[in-house]
Amino acid sequence: MSDAKIIKMDMGNLTGGTAGAVRPTLCLGIESSCDETSAAIVDSNRNILAHIIYSQIPEHQKYGGVVPELAARAHILAIDEVVKQTLAKAGKEFSDVDVIAATAGPGLIGGVLVGWMAATGMAQAAGKPLVAVNHLEGHALVPRLCATVASGAIGDANVEFPYLLMLASGGHCQILLVRGVGNYELIGQTLDDSAGEAFDKVAKMLGLGYPGGPIVDARAKNGNPRAFQFPRPLCDKPGCDFSFSGIKTAARTFLGRVTQPLSDEYINDFCASFQASVVDCIINRLGNAVRDSRVMAAAPRTLVVAGGVAKNSAIRSAMESLAERHNMVFAAPPMNLCTDNGAMIAWAGLENYRIGRVVDSPIAPRPRWPLTEL
Ligand SMILES: Nc1ncnc2c1ncn2[C@@H]1O[C@H](COP(=O)(O)OP(=O)(O)OP(=O)(O)O)[C@@H](O)[C@H]1O
Ligand SMILES: [Mg+2]
Repeated sequence: MSDAKIIKMDMGNLTGGTAGAVRPTLCLGIESSCDETSAAIVDSNRNILAHIIYSQIPEHQKYGGVVPELAARAHILAIDEVVKQTLAKAGKEFSDVDVIAATAGPGLIGGVLVGWMAATGMAQAAGKPLVAVNHLEGHALVPRLCATVASGAIGDANVEFPYLLMLASGGHCQILLVRGVGNYELIGQTLDDSAGEAFDKVAKMLGLGYPGGPIVDARAKNGNPRAFQFPRPLCDKPGCDFSFSGIKTAARTFLGRVTQPLSDEYINDFCASFQASVVDCIINRLGNAVRDSRVMAAAPRTLVVAGGVAKNSAIRSAMESLAERHNMVFAAPPMNLCTDNGAMIAWAGLENYRIGRVVDSPIAPRPRWPLTEL
């Protein structure tokens, strides 16, 4: 990203502790919805005091994807230690924490239950407020905790509401108009697979390992994006929805014709061509989204990308150019806050806590929980 700089916004009067105290509010955030057990302590001044991500990727790699039962068990084994180490790293006692937040869905329910029950137990035992965070809202709001902002045509800007969000992750692919905390308007979404799933499946077909996104991204840098003619599904249609299953089918068809072992050059070209089709689809759909009447009426100044696929270098750079063409500022979270992490849950916890959205009676975690139902 050219002329990029890290911004941290001032969060106003979100202070913690007893009445009249001026110290910032401290939130312990816990994430366990997929294959990362993560905890973080974040304060209302946008400081990440400690952040630990225990990734289970090595445990799932040999299966080529996440095995839900193994993931749940690994979360159980890791959660206590991850929380303990996070507090120690922050130099804080549990009594210093003002609010506890944990992912309550959507995600693999076994894992979600582990993090949610740990958070509920701690909150009840210590009489601390508890926030049930929607995992997607964690992804959606984390650019307000910390973002890399490009110098756009209208200059640098903070990530303030409303903003136009491309949320691309392992399980979701949505364009959202983010009007405020808990206030999301769905502008477009995938009709079949998510972008992350397409990256992972294509990498698997090529025998590149899991997760596939980062590997395809790296291989694409040395490949020719015009070597293979992948389709651009829905790009000749109006609207903002996506479809990636046709791209996946095309990948399978191309590979079905190959009889020799795949050369490095073939794999690099394949990755570059596949990635180019995903980028074109995202830019085509976002191009329609900025002209959508609801988006135009809200006039967001910032175009934001979030979710694991937001790590993709080609998507970031194409979105930055699109933002410039539409006189918007492009913002993206730093790489370690794109894939699942506890800091985004702690931050979403603080943003919800500020507006009084705490859990006041027992709730059941949800495997499915669309942002539009917040
Ligand atoms: N550089 C990259 N390019 C493309 N995709 C990437 C890159 N880095 C990571 N990904 C993809 O990001 C996805 C993981 O993102 P994330 O952790 O947000 O997903 P998730 O939590 O499983 O799904 P969801 O957030 O929808 O529940 C994987 O599909 C991975 O391949
Ligand atoms: Mg995620």
